[in-house]
Amino acid sequence: MLFSGHNLPQWMLQMKPCRRCRRGQIFHRITAAMSDPRLESLRALLPELRLLVEPADLEHYGRDWTRRWTPAPLAVALPASVGEVQAIVRWANAQGVGIVPSGGRTGLSGGAVAANGELVLSLERMHKVLAFDAVDRTLTVQAGIPLQKVQETAREHGLQYPVDFASRGSCSIGGNIATNAGGIRVVRYGNTREWVAGVRLVTGSGELMELGRGLVKDSSGYDLRHLAIASEGTLGIIVEATLKLTDPPPPGNVMLLALPSFEALMQVFAAFRARLQLQAFEFLTDVALRHVLAHGEPPPFEHAHPYYVVTEFASDEASEAEALAAFEQCLEQGLVSDGVISASDAQAAQLWRLREAITESLARYLPYKNDVSVRISAMPAFLAETQALLGREYPQFEVVWFGHIGDGNLHINILKPEAMAQDAFVADCERVTKLLAQSLQAHGGSISAEHGIGLVKKPYLACTRSAAEIAAMRGIKAVLDPNGIMNPGKLFDR
Ligand code: FAD
Ligand code: MLT
Ligand code: ZN
Repeated sequence: MLFSGHNLPQWMLQMKPCRRCRRGQIFHRITAAMSDPRLESLRALLPELRLLVEPADLEHYGRDWTRRWTPAPLAVALPASVGEVQAIVRWANAQGVGIVPSGGRTGLSGGAVAANGELVLSLERMHKVLAFDAVDRTLTVQAGIPLQKVQETAREHGLQYPVDFASRGSCSIGGNIATNAGGIRVVRYGNTREWVAGVRLVTGSGELMELGRGLVKDSSGYDLRHLAIASEGTLGIIVEATLKLTDPPPPGNVMLLALPSFEALMQVFAAFRARLQLQAFEFLTDVALRHVLAHGEPPPFEHAHPYYVVTEFASDEASEAEALAAFEQCLEQGLVSDGVISASDAQAAQLWRLREAITESLARYLPYKNDVSVRISAMPAFLAETQALLGREYPQFEVVWFGHIGDGNLHINILKPEAMAQDAFVADCERVTKLLAQSLQAHGGSISAEHGIGLVKKPYLACTRSAAEIAAMRGIKAVLDPNGIMNPGKLFDR
């Protein structure tokens, strides 16, 4: 007896017994996995490898934050060294088993989903800081290290790793690099791509490649490091990274602005950016704020307003004066209707919670997520068009807008009505995403700004990347992953 009923999760208790032998499905899944000859050969090859086959583990490691696909991996491997990763990849090539690289599984596009008998290769045991170089100002880490740990280590050395977003405690650097994660300070510091000085990649054929090697200057041919960034685990496994660090940020002030109209948004951005070096410029609608408040945060203003902006800048006297001048100017022009500014770090953190808690507060509605971008100059026209499109196409659903508006990146979350089946809901959202993709194409935008393509946006990749570009991506994959074992079916079909 492997399990007793009382410690089984609800989803397992609801599983029906097998019609033929009356034994539970769990029994079949475990015994099948335990006796799978492919896993036997992996165990024989790497007797020390930690390998999980129990249903609760397959469930846990086989899904990400999308929760749309039913996890069904063959097993979960937790290697502890680069050598083990290489041996697993070579085994997978020989056995024809797909590999899903797995970080913190906080991804929002289904990139880390294992629903077709793949081997999940989790980097969670490879989470060490390997080296700090004060002269190069770099930190070398194993790929499974959480983003927050990197930020803390940089601070301990009097420096900063500036990529930041709400899942910092759970997501991994490997996942950040594989998705080219953005976050709340891209307007000042750029995406993850800007901060990767080097990557060690185990390719789909098991080769270990040193890409970038921390060099500031290198014009010796193609920069393959950039192929690993945003590759979503389709070319190989990032096992280590050398990250650039920078000066610590100046003490910051956070301002929350209330806006009367959508049209004011980009004008307020222009007014603030003209006077200040902004560290962040984020936007949310009243609907988004209502969900955050229902989640337990205190309301920032006495009355509700249609739109809000969270912006951050240095807290020195000159910057504060410029921020207040920008605020006055916008107030006079009717572009903002109210505002608050943080007077302490605790208040700054409180204002940030209003923006950062949105994803968590929406999670229970299994939202369908669009994560789109256009050039900042194209934003006003794109926003107007998108607002009209969504108003027309989604009269029946609650639509929550927010995002990194200072980077031209908009998050549109459609909430699933409780009574509606997920398949029907997704089908309707996909119908509208096709229209949105056409609009993005017309505005020269991207169907994925920062979350990656994964499974969620695969049908729309060709809307914002040309046929020639996709053909080049396929060619690159064929070289680095000749048998197509790396994250099969994600990003594009081979
Ligand atoms: P996973 O979800 O485990 O994997 C993501 C992809 O990377 C998959 O395709 C996977 O196969 C691949 N992968 C993972 N590790 C490796 C590796 N070592 N080698 C090769 N491939 C690998 N994202 C943003 O960009 N900006 C945000 O502001 C932001 N905010 C978020 C807030 C919340 C509350 C949540 C839940 C998510 C948020 N995300 C955001 C999305 C997510 O956190 C990021 O995409 C993050 O980079 C994923 O990291 P991960 O380790 O969880 O990756
Ligand atoms: C964010 O900006 O909060 C994240 O990208 C998460 C999301 O889009 O839900
Ligand atoms: Zn985001």
